[in-house]
Amino acid sequence: MRGHFITLEGIEGAGKSTQRDAVAGCLRDAGLSVLVTREPGGSDIAERIRALLLDPANTGMHGDTELLLMFAARAEHLHRRILPALTTGTWVVCDRFTDATYAYQGGGRGLPVAHIAGLEQLVQGERRPDLTLLFDLPAAVGLARARGRSEPDRFEAEQLQFFERVRDTYRARAAAEAGRFVTIDAERDPATVAADTIAAVQAYLARVCAGQRRTAVDP
Ligand code: TMP
Repeated sequence: MRGHFITLEGIEGAGKSTQRDAVAGCLRDAGLSVLVTREPGGSDIAERIRALLLDPANTGMHGDTELLLMFAARAEHLHRRILPALTTGTWVVCDRFTDATYAYQGGGRGLPVAHIAGLEQLVQGERRPDLTLLFDLPAAVGLARARGRSEPDRFEAEQLQFFERVRDTYRARAAAEAGRFVTIDAERDPATVAADTIAAVQAYLARVCAGQRRTAVDP
């Protein structure tokens, strides 16, 4: 079986990291080989680009620079780690991918969607996630959670309105691509969110297995 590409998305404080472990555990329990990774980052060079992107000292970074660095990191990550894993049948669970660029650089920063779409095509061709879990919660709740944790990075230091635009963009993308997205209410306690997350992954696995059975019996 080919590897499948699952991404997790949501604003800061949505609890993606906890849920990422639940997704990986569920896949491993099903006997699958799993690579857990993240963006920006996930490879040596991409992690160095991540440090530049998140460093609060870089407050003056131009929006175009930020966008190009996101896709530079993505090119490294995709070609060095994600695609080789998928090709050998490993499932990839990635904390954020290009939906985050539409949400943060497009919605949050207001950069033209056409620029993002052009870079997406350049770096990814037709490659898109197979399943995207969107952990959705009000921006004020997410920010309060994130800011209680540690010193804010360059994105976390943005105003509430920025994250409201990010959230709105995520929700609009989920509505437009209902076949790929599953939206999970992340305002609830982590155990309840994890139960919904595992149910969504199990439903996806059942669909994949049913598809394979159909292919196997097709003449
Ligand atoms: P993280 O905190 O989930 O690791 O993500 C790091 C930050 O990078 C987060 O604030 C969202 C931001 N980001 C973008 O702005 N655009 C992107 O394409 C990605 C992948 C992340």
